[in-house]
Amino acid sequence: MEAWTIERLTSPVELDAVLAIEEASFTNPWTRQMHLAELEHQDVSFCYLARDAARVVVGFCSVWCVVDELHINNLAVSPPYRRVGVARSLLAHAIREGVRLGAVRATIEVRRSNEAARCLYERFGFSMTGVRRAYYTKPVEDALVLSRDNLIGG
Ligand SMILES: CC(C)(COP(=O)(O)OP(=O)(O)OC[C@H]1O[C@@H](n2cnc3c(N)ncnc32)[C@H](O)[C@@H]1OP(=O)(O)O)[C@@H](O)C(=O)NCCC(=O)NCCS
Repeated sequence: MEAWTIERLTSPVELDAVLAIEEASFTNPWTRQMHLAELEHQDVSFCYLARDAARVVVGFCSVWCVVDELHINNLAVSPPYRRVGVARSLLAHAIREGVRLGAVRATIEVRRSNEAARCLYERFGFSMTGVRRAYYTKPVEDALVLSRDNLIGG
């Protein structure tokens, strides 16, 4: 049995927890307004929360699923809960749900220096398919585009 419960965010009620993890994880975090805008498009925009046994939100993963492509927008885990499999559970869930909705491939952009995320995605079968020069700010850095084509059965 997985140690984490994964549930979809469907209302703004849990946004404070998501925003706290954003702040702790990114130099350029998504704002409340950005998350609220995503909630307006629940046909294609999905945000999954990972909760511990006490139902504390310990991580989240937000994705778009458009036609046959899953795009991972954001994945972050609260610092005290890292390296215990939360991201693995979130990503596996997002991919399973994406496949259920018709996705056959997945993409994500990741900072070149983000070793942790690059290792995680590599373990999930993603490989580098492009580079977006100076895509990120704070600090300016290239994004690596990672993709996985064989979502079904992979
Ligand atoms: C990247 C991140 C989401 C990983 O979350 P996590 O819950 O700690 O990851 P998991 O425990 O599920 O680890 C799964 C695998 O990812 C890789 N990994 C995770 N953290 C790692 C690290 N610090 N260094 C190297 N590999 C790492 C490992 O392969 C790991 O498997 P293992 O523990 O069996 O070695 C987390 O470090 C984070 O929130 N970072 C800040 C936000 C961020 O960079 N998000 C990604 C945006 S693209």
